[in-house]
Amino acid sequence: MRYKSQSVAYWYFAVAMVLFGLQIVFGLLSATKYLGPDPLLYILPFDVTKVIHTNLLVVWVLTGFMGATYWMVPDESRTELHSVKLAYLQLALWVVMGVTAVIGYLFRYGTGNKLLEQPLPHKIVIVVVMLMFLYNVVMTIRKSGRFTTTEGVLLLGVAGAAVLYLPSLLEYDNYVVSIFYRWWTIHLWVEGVWEMIQGGFLAYLLIRLSGADREVMEKWLYVIVGLVFMAGILGTAHHYYWVGVPSYWLPIGGIFSALEPVALVGMAMYAYSAMRRSGLAHPNTLALHWTVGSAVYTLFGAGLLGLAHTWPSVNKWTHGTLITAMHGHAAFYGAYAMIVLAMITYALPAISPARREQGTSLGYWAFWLQLAGMFGMTLSFATAGIGQVYLERIMGLGYLDAQLKIQVHFLMLIGTGTLFAIGVALFIIDFFRYAPRLEVTQDATDPDLQAVPVKPARA
Ligand code: HEM
Ligand code: HEM
Ligand SMILES: [Fe+2]
Repeated sequence: MRYKSQSVAYWYFAVAMVLFGLQIVFGLLSATKYLGPDPLLYILPFDVTKVIHTNLLVVWVLTGFMGATYWMVPDESRTELHSVKLAYLQLALWVVMGVTAVIGYLFRYGTGNKLLEQPLPHKIVIVVVMLMFLYNVVMTIRKSGRFTTTEGVLLLGVAGAAVLYLPSLLEYDNYVVSIFYRWWTIHLWVEGVWEMIQGGFLAYLLIRLSGADREVMEKWLYVIVGLVFMAGILGTAHHYYWVGVPSYWLPIGGIFSALEPVALVGMAMYAYSAMRRSGLAHPNTLALHWTVGSAVYTLFGAGLLGLAHTWPSVNKWTHGTLITAMHGHAAFYGAYAMIVLAMITYALPAISPARREQGTSLGYWAFWLQLAGMFGMTLSFATAGIGQVYLERIMGLGYLDAQLKIQVHFLMLIGTGTLFAIGVALFIIDFFRYAPRLEVTQDATDPDLQAVPVKPARA
C-alpha cells in the first residue's frame, strides 16, 4: 500500500468477510424452511433467520463500503487518514452494534420494520458511527487539500446514506405513514445514494485498472449519477401502489422507475468501454472481472429484473412475492456485493505482497462459482415466483397450498445456493490465506500511474 493508514481497510474487509459468510449460512437456512417440516421451528423460525440474513447483508456491505472508502480516500487525496485511532474505534463500535443486534433478533428484539429492524439504541449507535466516519473522511480531505470528483460523488453518497437513515429513527402508529417513510430510506438508498457510492468506487477502479483518462471517466460519472437521481427520486413511487396512498402515485411510479434502467445501461457501457480501451493492461485482471461484472450484473438484476415488475399492472400481481426476492438478490448482489468484492480484490495484492497481482486461481473459481450460483438462484426465485403468482393470485389457491406446489423450485434454489456458497467460501479462504503486511510497500508519488503499462487503445 502507499499510505500506512490504509491498513485500517484490511480490518474492515476482514469483518465484512466474516459477516458475509454468516449471511450465507442464514440464507441457506431460510431456503431449507420452504421444504418443511422445520425441526428448528421453535428455536429459529423463518422470520428470525430471514431478518438475520438481510440485516447481516446490510451490515457487511456497509462495513465493506467504509473499508473501501478508507482505502480509496488516501489514494485519491494523496495523504494519510486524519485519525487511524478514530477509524478503529468506529469499527469496534460497529461490530458491537452488529453482534448485539443479531443476538437481539434471536430473541425477537427489534422494530419489525423490514430491513430496518434495528432497535432504537442500535440505530443511535449507527448514526454515531456514520458521523465518526464522515468526520474522519472530511478531515482527511481538508488536510490534504486535494479533492477529486470521484471522491466527491462517493462522499455525497455516504453522507446521503447517513441522512436518509434518519427517518427510520421515528416510529409511526399509522401503518400507511410508516410504510410511506420506510421507502425514503430503503428505496432512496438502493436506487439513489448507494448508486453514488457504487459509481464512485467504479470510477476509482476503472481509472486505476484501465488507465482510462480521469477527466473523461469523471465526466461520465456526473452523467450517470444525474440520471440515477432524476429517475430514482420520483421512482420511489413504485413502492406506493398498494399501500394506502392516493392513486396519482401509480403513473408517477411507473414512468419514473421505468426510466431508472437507462442510467444502468449507461453505467455498464461506461465500464465495458473503459475495459476495452485498456486492453486488460493492468495486471490485476481479477479485480477488473469484479468491477466490470458489477456494472453488468447491476444492469441485469436492478435494470432488467427491476423493470420486469415495476409497472403497476404487473406489480399488482407480483407485489411481495418471490418475484421480489428474485430481483432483490440479483440487484443487491450485482450492485453492492460485487463492487465491495471488487474493491477488496483490488486492494489485496497491496496488502499482502506474497499474493500474485493477477489474482489466484482460487480467486477466479470464487468469481465464476458465485456468478453461476447467483444466476441459478435468480432463476429459481423467478420460476418459483411465476408459479406462485399464477397459483395464488390468479387461481386463488391458499398461500401454503401454492408453496407446496412449487417445491421443486426451492430444491433448485438450494442446489444453486450451495454452488454460490462454495464460491463465497473460496473467496473468504483466499482472503485470509495470505497474512497481511501492513506497511508502505509502494511509491506514493503518483497513484494515478499505477495502471501502467497501458497498451495503445484498440482500433
Ligand atoms: C441496485 C439497485 C437496486 C437494488 C439493490 C434493489 C433491491 C430491491 C429490494 C431488496 C427490494 C425488496 C424491498 C422490500 O420489499 O423491502 C426491491 C423491490 C423493488 N424493486 Fe428494486 N432494487 C434496485 C433497483 C431497482 C430498479 C432500477 C427498479 C425498476 C426499474 C426496481 C424495482 C423494484 C420494485 C418494483 C420493487 C417492489 C417489489 C414489490 O412490490 O414487492 N428496483 N428492490
Ligand atoms: C446461498 C445463498 C442465499 C440463499 C439460499 C438465500 C435465500 C434467501 C431466502 C430464502 C430469502 C427469503 C425470501 C422470502 O422472503 O421468501 C432471502 C431474502 C433475501 N436475501 Fe438471500 N439468500 C442467499 C444469498 C443472498 C445474497 C448474496 C444476497 C445479496 C447480496 C441476498 C439478499 C437477500 C435479500 C435482499 C432478501 C430480502 C428479499 C425480499 O424481501 O424479497 N441473499 N434470501
Ligand atoms: Fe425501489
